[in-house]
Amino acid sequence: MKSSITQGVRILATGSAVPDWCISNKILSDLIDTSDEWIFTRTGIKERRIALGDTSLIQMASLAAMQALRQASISPVEIDLIILATSSPNDLFGSASQLQAEIGANKAVAFDITAACSGFVIAIVTATQFIQNGSYRNVLVVGADVLSKWIDWSDRRTCVLFGDGAGAILLQACSSIQNNILGFQLDTNGEKFDHLNIHYNGNKDKADFLSAKSNGNYGYITMNGKEVYKFAVSKVPDSIMKCLASLNLSIEEVNWLLLHQANKRILHAVADRLNIPKYKLISNLAKYGNTSAASIPLALDEAINEGKIKQGDLFVVSGFGAGLTWGTVILKWIC
Ligand code: COA
Repeated sequence: MKSSITQGVRILATGSAVPDWCISNKILSDLIDTSDEWIFTRTGIKERRIALGDTSLIQMASLAAMQALRQASISPVEIDLIILATSSPNDLFGSASQLQAEIGANKAVAFDITAACSGFVIAIVTATQFIQNGSYRNVLVVGADVLSKWIDWSDRRTCVLFGDGAGAILLQACSSIQNNILGFQLDTNGEKFDHLNIHYNGNKDKADFLSAKSNGNYGYITMNGKEVYKFAVSKVPDSIMKCLASLNLSIEEVNWLLLHQANKRILHAVADRLNIPKYKLISNLAKYGNTSAASIPLALDEAINEGKIKQGDLFVVSGFGAGLTWGTVILKWIC
């Protein structure tokens, strides 16, 4: 989709945070019928971080946000807009306002985006529209999830995959010559929503309608792993090709492929389909598992801190997951 650009968007800084508590495959295999060998060969995951006790979504999101703000020497009161991509808010009405209060961003408008593992890409695209059309100057985008709270820890098909974390990116309006965010492609297929979801179990009993316990509840994450795998390896390469073509860019010009960190086999299959060599893949999945909306900013922040990224590098960033939703955003690294 094309947008009318009046100004560019610059990436000022990134940040990330994960809980301290680390659960290795070995620990999991002491608790349920699984093994390090099964998990690692099928997913590439070795361990994941889990938010326990005092560690909350808001705390992690705040830590990641403050890191980015400090790095850019921007005060929280200079932020105009906060977008929190999360599917595990600690308030069903949204958690972005708590993040706004926690970091003291008193002048910022704040809202959540719920789009599971595509959430961060959709949030970046949303932020970009507000900046490019001249509405806002400084926008903080945070991807944070605590899916550990929505996992059935006795279900070995899902519990080995997910972890908790948060990542942030700070965007600012700039001249169109310095623009970092070149284009995007977003897609949705709601007909397949039940391949990966957290279902709401509503009350079906009319007689209980007014009773305090009649409000229903949410279930655990359920997933058709094979269908989700097939969806990701077919739709994500298409999305990337469409996005590159809309910008007249070729695969050879791509320096980094940063995919939602779901599964090493998905990452490799997408790279293979696109003929992108594996050394261009950014991945920290072994350490954190699938952290949903946090996975892309977490991996981006780590890659930047490791000094991997050079001036002018072209990034292809794709998210995919529940909805089903998927999307690509193409970034040029100009600091
Ligand atoms: N440990 C050990 N065995 C396990 C297991 C685990 N954690 N989870 C499943 N198994 C078993 C199954 O019970 C099954 O046994 P059976 O043949 O005796 O019935 C066997 O392993 C194969 O299960 P299956 O579900 O067919 O595995 P798979 O090869 O499809 O791999 C996934 C499972 C989840 C790794 C794979 O489907 C996948 O990566 N899907 C994408 C998931 C994803 O990334 N989701 C998030 C997207 S945002």
